[in-house]
Amino acid sequence: MDGNGRWAKQRSLPRIMGHREGAKSVRAITEACAELKVKYLTLYAFSTENWKRPHKEVAFLMNLLSHYLVKEKNTMMKNNIRLLTIGDTSKLPLGVKTELSKTIKLTSKNTGLSLVLALNYGAKDEITKAIKTIAKKCISRKISPSKITEQTIADHLYTKNIPDPDLMIRTSGEMRISNFLVWQLAYAEFYITDILWPDFRKAQLVKAIEEYNNRDRRFGGVRNA
Ligand code: FPP
Repeated sequence: MDGNGRWAKQRSLPRIMGHREGAKSVRAITEACAELKVKYLTLYAFSTENWKRPHKEVAFLMNLLSHYLVKEKNTMMKNNIRLLTIGDTSKLPLGVKTELSKTIKLTSKNTGLSLVLALNYGAKDEITKAIKTIAKKCISRKISPSKITEQTIADHLYTKNIPDPDLMIRTSGEMRISNFLVWQLAYAEFYITDILWPDFRKAQLVKAIEEYNNRDRRFGGVRNA
């Protein structure tokens, strides 16, 4: 969800105002995905590297997140949305953790869109943790190294029960993965737009999905061989 800072700068506003406007896009895109019957929406809300930002900005983002959860509970229930997280949430402030677990529990039986918030998430951290767990299981002979498959690795990632993404949308024209779902994006289609996240709303999402629908996905194979 890139471009919040630039959106604010263009208006001579402090960066946090960009995040506040970005939260409105979170709401709009989540509702649009529920309406369009998208099954999973993963939002990269806070990376393992984002702690390097000024303390005030981090505090604002955490606060924004708890407020969002408090405010959106009813809409999530109304729209049959299930909340999930990926990342090491144990390091988040207590207030955020409390609101997260309340909302996750409340929405756990919902069967529509699964909204996955990536929080204190980093793909390198995720893969490192998975390797450590698999190594321990090898030492205790729960897993034999010769039996390790791609599925074994996938089963030890935060995204264990979540399908790999079909489409990765990157706003504000950045041409990087930025430590996001490195394993899971192996065959995802990329859609990069110059639009800044606060300006990314339903119409822009529909455009991205329309472009995705015209892509020819071969997963390394050939069409009509
Ligand atoms: C990146 O833009 C954005 C973030 C690190 C924060 C994303 C958070 C939100 C959109 C709001 C809160 C989230 C939820 C789920 C309610 P940037 O700040 O790096 O922008 P820039 O690249 O223009 O500086």
